[in-house]
Amino acid sequence: MKIRKLMGALCAAGLLCNMAAPVQAAEALSVLHWWTSGGESKAVGVLKDDMQKQGYSWKDFAVAGGAGAAAMTALKTQVISGNAPSAAQIKGPLIQDWAEQGVLAPIDSVAGDWKKSLPPQIDKIMRTDGHYVAAPFSVHRVNWLYINKAALDKAGGKVPTTWPEFFAVADKMKAAGLVPVAMGGQPWQDLTLWESVVLSQGADFYRKAIVDLDQKTLTSEKMIQVFDTVRKIESYFDQGRTGRDWNLATAMVINGKAGMQFMGDWAKGEFAGAGKKAGTDYICAAAPGTDKSYTFNVDSFVFFQQKGQKDATPGQLALAKTIMSPEFQEQFSLYKGSIPVRLGVSMSKFDDCAKKSYADEQMAISANTYVPSLSGSMAQPDAAAGAITDVVTKFMNSNQDSKSAVEALAKAAKTK
Ligand code: BGC
Repeated sequence: MKIRKLMGALCAAGLLCNMAAPVQAAEALSVLHWWTSGGESKAVGVLKDDMQKQGYSWKDFAVAGGAGAAAMTALKTQVISGNAPSAAQIKGPLIQDWAEQGVLAPIDSVAGDWKKSLPPQIDKIMRTDGHYVAAPFSVHRVNWLYINKAALDKAGGKVPTTWPEFFAVADKMKAAGLVPVAMGGQPWQDLTLWESVVLSQGADFYRKAIVDLDQKTLTSEKMIQVFDTVRKIESYFDQGRTGRDWNLATAMVINGKAGMQFMGDWAKGEFAGAGKKAGTDYICAAAPGTDKSYTFNVDSFVFFQQKGQKDATPGQLALAKTIMSPEFQEQFSLYKGSIPVRLGVSMSKFDDCAKKSYADEQMAISANTYVPSLSGSMAQPDAAAGAITDVVTKFMNSNQDSKSAVEALAKAAKTK
């Protein structure tokens, strides 16, 4: 994302760099996000209701499109036109990018106990120069495999823990007349699958490849195997995935047309919305070979300075405080499929998948196998993440061989 260029254009147009602009007194909160599926809308609805109860009005800017690519484009347009929203859903390294432009309002005054209430890996992402500029909602685990229980039983398979077991189950599902793997058709979904296969080579391998962008790891024999495995998984997709949204792929698993889906646990919000029960109607398992590791994806809101006023408005502070309150953290995640990011929130109302996510998160934090998701925009700035996504998507939508994909990957990783 070319924020720097964007800010230059803004300044030239006399917009955001005019600090003498009048202070905005209104308490209407304009909120930009991409939570538009059934489960997502219910979850963000909790926040809207909470804020309205506190006397703020809510101006919703929901921009459909999983993983937020369209939302980020809309955000740039809003900022360029001098209408930066009160809050926007922004994640990972992008938080720092926006903070560096000096357009975010710090929220330290409501973040007194956040440091001890967040995993350190996540706490540091919420801050810039020691100041909190983002409020975290919840933790999504990305390396999940969702399985329709009836489809698994029909095919007479067992929950796969390795790739050979996975392919055995997929073959049985195919023979039983099902689509073995439900897959959507956007680049970020390709990346979601690919990163889980990278993780199956071990958290250290994932970290070296995806966090450190280590050239030796990116061009290794193991990385060639990753692409080979992805190629094989593709043979279990149906023909209709082009342009398909992630939640429509989840619906194929919910209604039994398809057997399995690789997806982050926002998919669980869809199962819950359809009245399906974890363990009974569907199974959540770590993607094959990844049960000891955890790819995290933490949604957060940042708060834009309003009309040149450096400090956060009372409404923005109330929003940040509400997002991190234990009551909100619980209800939001119950609808969203995630787990509270705030440590110490009771898990008693959560389903078995969420309880497993929480237990696995604690295990992964202590085993140093807790790693940021690339497809969830947590691991790399936009430029490198975008270039890597292009390589993976090109591979998955052509007949390219794994060796040349790996060469392209190593090159893409150098993108600044
Ligand atoms: C976000 C989730 C969202 C998903 C699909 C992810 O990048 O972190 O909150 O549910 O995209 O839209």
